[in-house]
Amino acid sequence: MLILDQVEVNRRLLRAMLKSEPYLIREARRAPEALEILAKDKIDLVILDLMMPGMSGPDFCRTIKADRRTQLVPVLMVTNAHGVENEVAGIVSGADEFLTKPLHPAVVRARVRALLRHRAAVDSLEEAESILFALAQAVEQRDPYTAGHCQRLAWYSVSVGMSLGLARRELIALHRGGFLHDIGKIAVPDAILHKKGRLDEREWEVMRSHTCKGESICRPMKSLQAVLPVIRSHHERWDGGGYPDGLKGEEIPLVARILQVADIYDALTTVRPYKPALSPESACETLEKEAAAGWRDPELVQTFCRLQREGSGLLGDPSSTDWPQLEQLGQSLAAVHFPPG
Ligand SMILES: [Fe+2]
Repeated sequence: MLILDQVEVNRRLLRAMLKSEPYLIREARRAPEALEILAKDKIDLVILDLMMPGMSGPDFCRTIKADRRTQLVPVLMVTNAHGVENEVAGIVSGADEFLTKPLHPAVVRARVRALLRHRAAVDSLEEAESILFALAQAVEQRDPYTAGHCQRLAWYSVSVGMSLGLARRELIALHRGGFLHDIGKIAVPDAILHKKGRLDEREWEVMRSHTCKGESICRPMKSLQAVLPVIRSHHERWDGGGYPDGLKGEEIPLVARILQVADIYDALTTVRPYKPALSPESACETLEKEAAAGWRDPELVQTFCRLQREGSGLLGDPSSTDWPQLEQLGQSLAAVHFPPG
C-alpha cells in the first residue's frame, strides 16, 4: 500500500499501527511522488491525508479515480479537521473510506483489511474480464485471414460512434464489442468454422448460434452488460431477415448496427481465401447497395461512407498506434482493453 502524507510522524504512526500485518508499505511526501509510484508499482490501497500542500487530498483522489489504470485502487482518507464538510469533500472526490484523527489502531486495521478484501474481489473480476478478451483473441487467431480484424472493428465502430455523438458508455461498449462480438465462435467446431464450400442447414444453425453463445459467455460479467446487445444482435438485418431474433429497423440496438456496418466494411476491404480485397470506395458502394436493398440501416451507411470519403481521418489507418480521437474521450480508451502487440 501507499501512504501519502507530508508529515513524517504521521506516516510513522500509520506504519506502526499496521506493522502486525504483513503489508508492503511505500511512502510518499507529496502528490507527484505518489503518482509516480502508482504509475510504476502495483498498489492495492492508498492512505492519504486530506490536507496536503500543493495538490489537496480530494484533488489527488479525483486524479487517480479519473485514470482508468488507478480508478479501482481504494483510497482511505485521513484528516485532522472535524466537520461534515470535510468528510463530504473527501467522499465526493471518490475516497472509499474516511477516518478522523485521533486514529484508533484497531479501527485503522479493520478498515484497511476491509478495503484490501474489496480490492482482491475487484482484482479477480478484472482477471476474469482479461481472460474473456484473451479468448476473443484466440477466436480471431483461429482464422489467419482475420488477423487484426477485432482491432480494426473497435477502431471503425468507436470512430462512427464518436461522429454520432454517442455517450462514453456506448463508445466503450463499441470498443469492447469490436473484440468480443464473435467470442461465441469458440463453441463452433473448426470443421464448420473453416469449411470450404457451402454449409448445410444444420451447420448454419451451429454457426448462427455464436451470437447467443457469446452473449451467455459474457452475461455473468457485470462490467460487460453494455456489450451484450452488440454481441447478440450484430447479425440482425434492417429488413428483419437476420438472426438470432429477426429484429427489424430500429429494434436492432444502434451499437449492434454500427458494429455490423464496420464488420462488413472490414470483410470487404481485406483479402479472404475466396476473394481479393476491395478498395475502400468499392466497399462503400457495396454497403450502399445493401442499404438500398433494405439490408442495412441507410442513415448509418451514409454516415459511415461519408466519414470514409471525407478522409476526415476517422476511418484512417486502424493499425496506427496513434489513436488521437480515442484520446479525446478524456482517458485512453485504447488502454482499456487493447491487447498488447
Ligand atoms: Fe459474428
